[in-house]
Amino acid sequence: MSKELIRLSDCTMAFDDEIVLDNLNLYIKDEEFLTLLGPSGCGKTTTLRIIGGFLVPTKGDVFFDGVRINDVPPHKRKVNTVFQKYALVPHLNVYDNVAFGLRLVKPKIDKKEIDQRVREMLEVVSLKGFEHRAVSSLSGGQQQRVAIARALVNRPKVLLLDEPLGALDLRLRKDMQQELKRIQQQMGITFIYVTHDQEEALAMSDTVVVMNEGIIQQIGSPEDIYNEPKNAFVADFIGESNIVDGIMRADGVVEIFGKKFECLDSGFEKDEPVDVVIRPEDVDIVDTRAGQLIGLVTSVTFKGMNYDIIVDFKGFKWLIQTSDFCPAGSKIGIHIVPDGFHVMKKSKYSGLYGDYSSYSDEYEELSDADEAEEGSEDEK
Ligand SMILES: Nc1ncnc2c1ncn2[C@@H]1O[C@H](COP(=O)(O)OP(=O)(O)OP(=O)(O)O)[C@@H](O)[C@H]1O
Ligand SMILES: [Mg+2]
Repeated sequence: MSKELIRLSDCTMAFDDEIVLDNLNLYIKDEEFLTLLGPSGCGKTTTLRIIGGFLVPTKGDVFFDGVRINDVPPHKRKVNTVFQKYALVPHLNVYDNVAFGLRLVKPKIDKKEIDQRVREMLEVVSLKGFEHRAVSSLSGGQQQRVAIARALVNRPKVLLLDEPLGALDLRLRKDMQQELKRIQQQMGITFIYVTHDQEEALAMSDTVVVMNEGIIQQIGSPEDIYNEPKNAFVADFIGESNIVDGIMRADGVVEIFGKKFECLDSGFEKDEPVDVVIRPEDVDIVDTRAGQLIGLVTSVTFKGMNYDIIVDFKGFKWLIQTSDFCPAGSKIGIHIVPDGFHVMKKSKYSGLYGDYSSYSDEYEELSDADEAEEGSEDEK
C-alpha cells in the first residue's frame, strides 16, 4: 500500500465564481481505504466527481499513476463509482445486473468468462443463490451489494463510493461496513469513500480526510485524527470534545481556568494562547478534596454504558462521561492525567465549538421547533 496512485494537486473548483473546493492537495495510495469526511456541502461529492472524471477542476491537476488525467473521460479511467442511489436496472435480475457492464465491454468478453466473473463477484458479496431474483424483491442491503458487485466485476483499480450506506438502518449499516472493508482487502482495490458519519469513517478507513467549507482541515489515520486533532473544527466534528481557552506556560505545562496542568504537548511559544481539548471520557471524577478542579453537576443523562453529565466549572460547562452516578446538583472533583490534554494552535474555529453550556437548552429548542413544525403541519 505504499505506491501513490492518485494525486490531486492544487485543485480548485468554482461554480459561477463561487469557490466550493479551495486548493485541494491530496494523494491516495494503491490499495488504500481513504475516506472524505465532513458536513453537508463541504465538497465531498465534488472531490469524488473530479477523481471520477465527471468534473474537471477549474484550476489544478489530477494525476493517475503519475500521468495527468484532467482531460480523460470517466469511462477511460480505471475507476468505478457506487452512488448513494444504487441505480440498478429494475427489470433485470441480480445476475444480469452484475453482468450488464461486462457485456458492453469491447472487445467482447466471451460468455464463459462473463459467467465465471459474475458468479465470483456474487460470492464475494455473499449473494450466491440470488442470481435469478428480481432486484426489486431484494432488501436495501442486498441491493447495495448488487451495486457493489456490479461496480467491481470489471476489476477497476479504484472504487469511488458516495455515502453508499446512507439509506440503510443502523444495524445493517454496521454489517455492511464490515463487509465493504472485507471486500476491499480481499480484492486489493483502492476505495475512496465519502461519508458525513465520523464513526463510520473511523471504523473503516486507513486514512481520513476531514473537510470543511471546501478546505482540507486534516489528513491522517483514524487514531491521529481522534487523538491529535489539528483545530477546534476537527476536534468537535470527530467525537465529543470539551474545548477551552488555555495558555501554554512552558513545554508540558498548560494553564486553564488560571490553573497550571501537566500535559504532554510541547513546541509552542512561551505563554502562547491555545485551544485545549479534553475528551469527555478522559476526565476522572474524584472527591472534591482531591479534585484539580471542582464543578457542579447540572444535568445527568443515562446512556446505557455510562452517564453523560454536564458539569459547570466557573460558568463553563463540560460534558463528562462516567460510569459513576453523580446526581444533578452535586459537587464533584475532577482529575485529568497529562495524556488527557491535547493542545492545539488557535485557528479561525477557536471559540466556536466545544462548549456544552447549551446542551440542555439545545434539546429544549429542538423540541420547541418540533412542536412549531407539527403546528404548521396541522394548519395545512
Ligand atoms: N453543479 C453545481 N453547480 C453549483 N454549485 C454546486 C454544483 N455542485 C455542487 N455545488 C455546490 O458545491 C458545494 C459542495 O457540494 P458537494 O455536493 O460536493 O457537497 P457534499 O460535501 O457532497 O455534501 P453532502 O454531504 O450534502 O452530499 C455545495 O455548496 C453545492 O451547492
Ligand atoms: Mg455529497
